[in-house]
Parts: sequence; structure tokens; C-alpha cells
Amino acid sequence: MSEAGAVSEATRRRIGELRTAIALHDYRYHVLDDPEISDADYDLLMRELRTLEAGHPELITADSPTQRVGAAPLETFAVVEHQVPMLSLENAFSEDEVRSFERRVRERLGTPDEDIEYAAEPKLDGLAISITYRDGVLVRAATRGDGTRGEDVTANVRAIRAVPLRLRGQPPALLEVRGEVFMPLAGFARMNAAALERGEKTFVNPRNAAAGAVRQLDPRVSASRPLDVFLYGLGAVEGGVPPTRQSELLAQLRSYGLRTCPEAQVVRGVAGCLGYFARLGAARTRLPYQIDGVVYKVDRRDWQEQLGFVSRAPRWALAHKFPADEAETVIRAVEFQAGRTGAVTPVARLEPVFVGGVTVSNATLHNMDEVARKDVRVGDTVVVRRAGDVIPEVVRVVPGRRPAGAQPVQLPSHCPVCGSPVAREEGEAIARCTGGFRCTAQRREALKHLAGRRALDIDGLGDRIIDQLVEHDLVRTPAELYTLDVATLAKLDRMGEKSARNLVAAIDASRKTTLPRLLFALGIRDVGESTALALAQHFGDIEALMEADELQVRQVPDVGPVVAAHVVRYFADPANRELIAALRAHGVGWQPMAAPRAAEMPLGGLTFVLTGKLTHMTREAASEALLALGAKVAGSVSKKTNYVVAGEEAGSKLDKARSLGVPVIDEAALIAVLEKKERPGA
Ligand code: IVH
Repeated sequence: MSEAGAVSEATRRRIGELRTAIALHDYRYHVLDDPEISDADYDLLMRELRTLEAGHPELITADSPTQRVGAAPLETFAVVEHQVPMLSLENAFSEDEVRSFERRVRERLGTPDEDIEYAAEPKLDGLAISITYRDGVLVRAATRGDGTRGEDVTANVRAIRAVPLRLRGQPPALLEVRGEVFMPLAGFARMNAAALERGEKTFVNPRNAAAGAVRQLDPRVSASRPLDVFLYGLGAVEGGVPPTRQSELLAQLRSYGLRTCPEAQVVRGVAGCLGYFARLGAARTRLPYQIDGVVYKVDRRDWQEQLGFVSRAPRWALAHKFPADEAETVIRAVEFQAGRTGAVTPVARLEPVFVGGVTVSNATLHNMDEVARKDVRVGDTVVVRRAGDVIPEVVRVVPGRRPAGAQPVQLPSHCPVCGSPVAREEGEAIARCTGGFRCTAQRREALKHLAGRRALDIDGLGDRIIDQLVEHDLVRTPAELYTLDVATLAKLDRMGEKSARNLVAAIDASRKTTLPRLLFALGIRDVGESTALALAQHFGDIEALMEADELQVRQVPDVGPVVAAHVVRYFADPANRELIAALRAHGVGWQPMAAPRAAEMPLGGLTFVLTGKLTHMTREAASEALLALGAKVAGSVSKKTNYVVAGEEAGSKLDKARSLGVPVIDEAALIAVLEKKERPGA
């Protein structure tokens, strides 16, 4: 720590250098799409800056890249008056409407025969945003609201990495830029998959997810959402040289380090517009974000001014929308599917309908709560929606078109796949099949999970093979994988003698595993890799865990009541106990972990933290080896840490260890500990 007021010139300079370097890398990554350094190196710069700032909090400025995420949740959003109103766009749904828009533009400008240039851009399906920079520093961000008054969402927008906190180049003294915040499809899919895994509600589409994230009162929650932004317009501006064209405006925004849509293009005349519309329509599914049409803007800004506005939309711009991704159709039947965790999901069989570019004949109804909420019945006329690659869904029932005598949908009492009873627990939206491995739907998913790389890691046991094994009833429980022989496997589709032999060898190799892997492989609800490791460390072996009650399981770090209940329920099920016994009987083996008698183990009572890159082994292998000797391996450094093992490029954990005075050893010392099975320095 430095003494107050004694910040050395070198530290001050280094902090400045780091901020400049990080801003440059942000710009290269987000705006130029041409990063110069790896994510790991970027993280190193951030860490160094964080460490320096932690030692000198008086040097922290609001535009430092470490200050993106504020801490305290807000009570409400403040209201922001837009100095220049945020307008909307006139929509067109057909070529004819585009042609008449374009004719009106030429007539009003008095250039009837000229091919006018248009800036054509995708119409992004997100949330309109206004971001204000004063002297190049981000001072405010606001939603559109009703166009005149929006909400102050500065804290949340600051957390979006693609939004610079300080502009580059020579921006005007006051610059309000406008554009769209959106959630890229990959981030949307990742977020929904994680929500599903946690049994939480998923978002219907990326637009809602983005809007929800921007309008979060807790900026930390919003910071965890994968948001992105494209800017395309101006609000209030003071100073600087105004651009003469929309295309020039976009280039100017880029020169300030702001992100613009790479698909934007200048086109000529109505033919150019329609050509652009066709190109984007075809490319639409390849874009990493969702768009719902294109926008044509007269490129010359003096002409824009001349054309002016009607009501709340400019005469110089038009949104040309893709065909609607909602359509009406009739529900022929409601059937139930059994999925991964036994979840029994209602699915609507539809009168086929063309929507969002494809013919849809099935749509999800999510769960029985949703069926009840929407009051969906067989024979109903409904609105279905298909957005991007999202599964089509029934949005709502069209009122007044229900056939007489239509009955509410009933949850089946038995699983449609295996006939086992279906149970729905109190407080849960999801009904589940109780058939366990007898249900082929659940068995298939259990096998896929068990064979996974982070579970028992059976190389070559892919989905296609698992499907066949289940279909032909060759494997009735996961343990029966270990009874498969070359002759049986070689008979499967697209399996030769050689690959069958390899697969048997891979299955054999998976017999030797570790307790955390085994616990993860069982697919207990809510037990991911880290919970599996924590359970293994705490209980030492599976027997102790199998006999534990909920209170005991809750003693495990990071295990709450819900997870504890799932764990206890899992081991209470005789079928699961049989599975574990059968796996053992087939030779699946693991070392107990030493937790209960830790004191007697060579490294009993010691807590290690691993950081940085190890060169002779992976971090996972190192922690497994340490655990096997009775040590605990923790994720973060505290006063209770006995040793920090620092590999190459170790970062903040190493700094923390030093500041707390925790002994640090290197990889060579770690290897010596593991080989000699002795405490460090013994
Ligand atoms: S220009 C006066 N350009 O569409 C100009 N808007 O329907 C108004 N939008 O509120 C906006 N992509 O949120 C413009 N490339 C784009 C756009 C775009 C999406 C949204 C924007 C606006 C809404 C109007």
C-alpha cells in the first residue's frame, strides 16, 4: 500500500497507459472487429489496472474501464427529457409501399428522374437507446420511452462492453448518439440454456431479453447479460462539424470508437433498396443478431432536412419489414413429450401454417401453467410465432373462434413415452415422468450426460450411437454400457469392427474415474461440476453422501436447500442406488476423497488455491491429486488459504496472496509435494 499522497509518478503514468491500452483494445475488438491481443492478455491488463487502482483509489475516474459496473441497485429509474424527440419510422410491408415512398421522396425534392442515394441498414430488433457524451465522456444513457421522455439507464448502459466510456478522436463538446441495444443470438441461446438448467424462466426472444436487461434496476444483473449495441443516429449536438450524409455520420461515429452495423450500405434508387432488402432477407439467418426488416434513409442530410417529418416519423426514412413471423392457425391436438429430466411438455399439433419463412406444424406450449394461463384448447384458433431459430410457440388464443364443447387440456396421468405415472410437485410448473431409466426419453439423455467429456468422458460415444443403443434396448441403464461388446456394437449403423473396438476400449478406459466426475455423471438435478466437486470433498466417498440427510448436505459450501433436497431425493430412489451398485460391479472405480479423516492424510487440513497456467499438468489434474492427498482446493484466496500455487501468468489471486501474506509456491514445488506426498517445505 502507498502512503496517502505518495503516488509515484510511475504509478500514475502506468494507470494512464493501461487505460489507454484497454480503450484501444476495446475499440479494436468491438468497432474494428480486429483484436490485436488475446482475451487472456486483455484480462491481464485489466487485472493490473484493478490492482493499481485498489492501491490508489483516489486515482479512480468514472471513465476507467474498471468502473463499468456500479454497485448499488436503483429504486426506480429517473426520467430523462429528450431535447430532440426520438421518433419512430413509417413501416412498409410490400414492394409497392417502398416504391410509393421512394416516388414521394423524389417528387418532394423536385428530382423526379434522379436515382437518389439511400443509406440502407438492417432494422435491428432491440431497444432504442440514446447515449450522451460530454467532452468525450459518457454522461448519460436513456431509453426512448414515449419519444419525449425516457428512463435514465446510464448505469446499465455503462456496463455494456461495446459502449465506450470515453470517445476517441475529436468528438463535439456535446454528442448525443442514438441506436439500438440488442442481445446477439448466441448470447441469448446461452442465457436461456443456463436458465433452463437452473429451472428458471426463459426469455421468449432476444428483444425481450435485451429490453429486460437494460431496464434492470440492479446494474450487476444487467452487466451479466450479453448485450451489444449499434449506433445509427444523432440527437443533441454542440460543436464539431456536422456530417453531410448518413453514411458519413456512420463513419464519423466509428472514428469516435462507436460501434455501427457492418451491414449498412449506400444503395441507389428503388432498385438498390429492393436489392438490399432481398440480400439481407437471404442473409438474415446467418446474421449473429435478430433483425425484423431494413431501414432506408435518404443519404444526404440536407435533403433529410428539406423533407422533414410527418407526425412522429421522418419523411426521409422508411422501415421495410420482413413478412410477419406471427400467423393464425388451428390446434388439431395437444400431445405430450417427455424430455431430458423427465419433464413432460405439452406440444400443440397445428394445421400447418407458413410463418417466419417456414411451414410450422408443431408449437410448444411450455408447461401446464402456460396452457392454463392462455386457456388453450383443442380446436382453438391461435396465434403462433416463430422468431429466428427459436422453437415456434403458441402466443395466444384468438377470442370468439372456439368450437362448441372444447375441453381444457388435461395433463396425462401417465408418461406418453413409457407409461409410468406423471407427477407434478407442489410449486413446480413442470410435470415429470417417474419412469427413470425405464423411460427411453430419460435414458437417452442420461446416457448422453454420463458419456460427456466432463463426466465419464467416453470418447466416441456420440448421440447417434446412444440413440441406437436405446432404440434397440441394448442398454437399459447407464451401467449396462459396461456390458457392451465389440460384436454387439459392430452391428449398429455406420459402425465398423474397428470403431466398435475403439468404443469398447473407450468405455473400458472410463471405468477409472474420480468421485467428482462420477457424481457429476449421475445427472442429479442441479448438481453441476462444481457442486459435484464440493460434495465429493465434503463427504469423501459416495456411501457417506448416500446416507446423508438434507441438513448434512446443506453443510457443503454453496449447497442450498433446493440442491440439497434434489441430492437426498436422488439417493433415496432405489433405482439410483442400484445404478451405483451396478456401476461398481461392472468395475467403475474411483478413489475416495479424504475429507472425513483429513487430519491423517499427508496434506490434511491444508487449503490450496491454484492460479495461472501449469505446464506439466492441467489445473484439474493438480486439484484432483491434491484432493487425493487430503488437501482442500479453494477457488479464491483468503486468510484461511495455506498455499497459493502460482503457474504462469498468475494474476489477481497471486496479488491477493501477497497482500495477505499467504505463502506462494511454484509448479516445481507443487510437483515435489505430490511426488513426496509431503507438506510443502517439509
Ligand atoms: S432510425 C428518425 N435505424 O426502429 C429515425 N431505427 O420503428 C428513427 N430501429 O425507434 C430511427 N433499427 O428503435 C433507425 N437502423 C435503424 C433501426 C431503427 C432499428 C428501431 C428504432 C426505432 C424503431 C422505429
